[in-house]
Amino acid sequence: PSANIGVVGLAVMGSNLARNLASREGNTVAVFNRSPERTRTLVDEHPEAGFVASESYDDFVASLQKPRTAIIMVQAGRGTDAVISELASRFEPGDIIVDGGNANFHDTIRREGEISPTGIHFVGTGISGGEEGALNGPSIMPGGSAESYETLGPILASIAAVAEGEPCVTHVGTDGAGHFVKMVHNGIEYADMQLIAEAYDLIRQGTGKSPAEIAEIFAEWNTGELESYLIEITAEVLRQVDASTGLPLVDVILDEAGAKGTGAWTVQNALDLGVPVSGIAEAVFARSLSSKRAQREASATLPGPDGEFAVADADAFIEDVRQALYASKIIAYSQGFDEIIAGAEQFGWDVKKGDIAKIWRAGCIIRARFLNRIADAYAEDPELVALVVAPYFRDAVTGAQAAWRRVVVAAAQSGIPTPAFSSSLAYYDGLRAPRLPAALVQGQRDFFGAHTYKRVDKEGVFHTLWSGDRSEIETTPSSH
Ligand code: 6PG
Repeated sequence: PSANIGVVGLAVMGSNLARNLASREGNTVAVFNRSPERTRTLVDEHPEAGFVASESYDDFVASLQKPRTAIIMVQAGRGTDAVISELASRFEPGDIIVDGGNANFHDTIRREGEISPTGIHFVGTGISGGEEGALNGPSIMPGGSAESYETLGPILASIAAVAEGEPCVTHVGTDGAGHFVKMVHNGIEYADMQLIAEAYDLIRQGTGKSPAEIAEIFAEWNTGELESYLIEITAEVLRQVDASTGLPLVDVILDEAGAKGTGAWTVQNALDLGVPVSGIAEAVFARSLSSKRAQREASATLPGPDGEFAVADADAFIEDVRQALYASKIIAYSQGFDEIIAGAEQFGWDVKKGDIAKIWRAGCIIRARFLNRIADAYAEDPELVALVVAPYFRDAVTGAQAAWRRVVVAAAQSGIPTPAFSSSLAYYDGLRAPRLPAALVQGQRDFFGAHTYKRVDKEGVFHTLWSGDRSEIETTPSSH
């Protein structure tokens, strides 16, 4: 056997990851794909990689040095189970099967539970950075056993992106932790993209600037605290002119956003965990709404506010939008980290928040300058109760809040949908509020269902006899 690592599944992500691996000193990479044509094409196109190609699982497994390590890069779902079982039936105790696809972490927990009794390691790994990242350096989020990471860690570190001298990979936690964290990464990605899209929409409608002009604004923003991959590519997309019509490309792209599911998973699991990831949820729902063509057409004649939306001072408005975007973005990341904390507690993972912030600083889609500040915040206080209360972020939202409010007001008054901006601000105000109307909700629940309530002034659980004399009794906690 001549290869120290193998890749199964040679679509773009798998091919690029294999090429990345092959380009690093000391690696010899075995490759396998269900249809051998693709393997042959990859090997022919990249002789420099020195791939060890196989056309059967038997040959592929035989080409791997022990402990055998193979990374599966196939479409998440049933295809993954099939490949896992092919490998597991040939691998031996100590060997490592890595799933590098966007698997649902519940599947990863199940698969790990099924495989680990055989002595084979199963490592669900988040890999972010798209095709480019896979080739030149992704951010990598492996779960699985600590023991498997001893073998796998150095290999992954050799291909990961590098941020300030540190490779963007860390052992996130056991079993499904890696895929869980990748899921939340994608949820934050959805929120960040939606916030940027709302910022663009507000500026375009409020100032009448062209996409090309707005591209320059984003490029400028990318030199400051908002510096990030998503802001950078937004400028690129807005600058693009459609060859066939001569129009800005953004004006000829159908305005129905797709989704492959990881954003929805983030929200589904947040609901189960009881974590309010409202900004992420609004981003997922905004994509759903965009694709409801029949409802949108039927609603197109519904009334909006009178008059045109035109801001008096374009430059001041643009600066307000920038600040609103930054504040809302802080909320999105704060909510995402809350979900990671809750998931870690629920599933028994020892996730180091600061390390997650660090491995997201380069390679991944949500890489951003301010992840350094998140890493600092968790380094200073690993038990930080909410990111937004860390001194740096408190100062940031304090500075931005007036602009944030003006933008949300302007959006509401002019009828421009800004679900992510608005919900982030509502969340912020909810956190701040000394008293919430949740007290009234508790009263309502007690009225119709005797669900009981607690009091601010004494211990115990209480119920008002609503259909009797409306006196209060002390009771045992209700479960209905
Ligand atoms: C990444 C991306 C990647 C993929 C998303 C897109 O981190 O590299 O998140 O995983 O582009 O799955 O998801 P949607 O198709 O749902 O937008």
